[in-house]
Amino acid sequence: MALFNRKHILSTKDLQKEEIDQILETALSFKEVMRREIKKVPTLRGKTVINLFLEDSTRTRTSFEVAGKMLSADVINLSKSGSSLAKGETFLDMAKTLEAMKPNVLVVRAKQSGLPKRLSEHLNCPVINAGDGLHEHPTQALLDLFTLQERWGDVKGKKITIVGDIAHSRVARSNIYLLKNRGAEVTLVGPGSFMPLGVEEYKVKITYDLMEGIREADAVMVLRIQKERIGLPFFPSVREYARFFGMDRSKLAECKKEVLILHPGPVNRGIELSPEVADGSHSVILDQVANGVAVRMALLYLLVK
Ligand code: CP
Repeated sequence: MALFNRKHILSTKDLQKEEIDQILETALSFKEVMRREIKKVPTLRGKTVINLFLEDSTRTRTSFEVAGKMLSADVINLSKSGSSLAKGETFLDMAKTLEAMKPNVLVVRAKQSGLPKRLSEHLNCPVINAGDGLHEHPTQALLDLFTLQERWGDVKGKKITIVGDIAHSRVARSNIYLLKNRGAEVTLVGPGSFMPLGVEEYKVKITYDLMEGIREADAVMVLRIQKERIGLPFFPSVREYARFFGMDRSKLAECKKEVLILHPGPVNRGIELSPEVADGSHSVILDQVANGVAVRMALLYLLVK
């Protein structure tokens, strides 16, 4: 296998096809480790992973921790609360302090768009963006792609519709770049107020009509309304949003028979997804979670080994 030369994972925009292939092939081999009785390999023994999570997370943070531990790395978790940020320390001083303890990789989640990139410019150790503000969530998009490829082999020519709060979604942005790179046909659906300024620059299909967007889709990726990032009322009511843009049993019945339903989580049940759809046979949400561990094992391995 060719050498993986990338030092940081900050975005999916500039990932090359060969790099994506290498990440996903490596993830496939680590998925086999996850099926073993003893889910541990010595690959990163003696290496240290620091998870710096300055914003809430369940899936990403836990899966990076599980991934590191399955690879036998020492994993340190640090969150904003309890850190010295509250005493006025800057993000950069904090990151340099952590780097002085010689970690082999720093995994960063932050409210501030661009913070992982800024840290990567000042640190010597690799930095992985675990979701930064409105910007990107590259490891989520990679695990989404892995999940789709696991079902289909290839996403080329597949119709993938992303529904909901596109404007505030780092998951949407990372997925648009990655899926387009792989030759998928991407459609964005949502109310006008949830489309970002300059959305046409993505060069994907855009519609404000849910049924038009999902009827022919091979996969529908449903997004949560990012309430924590919305300062103004972007839609009249949650009930109205759920009526027009929420995926429920009756709308699913209008989709292709084999359609896949994805959601990065956390799900707001009854708003963007009804419980029957979230837990139904089309849903691959828990596959996404499991694949998140394998993909993050691959990234830690490729950056640290
Ligand atoms: N998908 C995702 O990033 O979930 P968490 O916020 O729980 O990590």
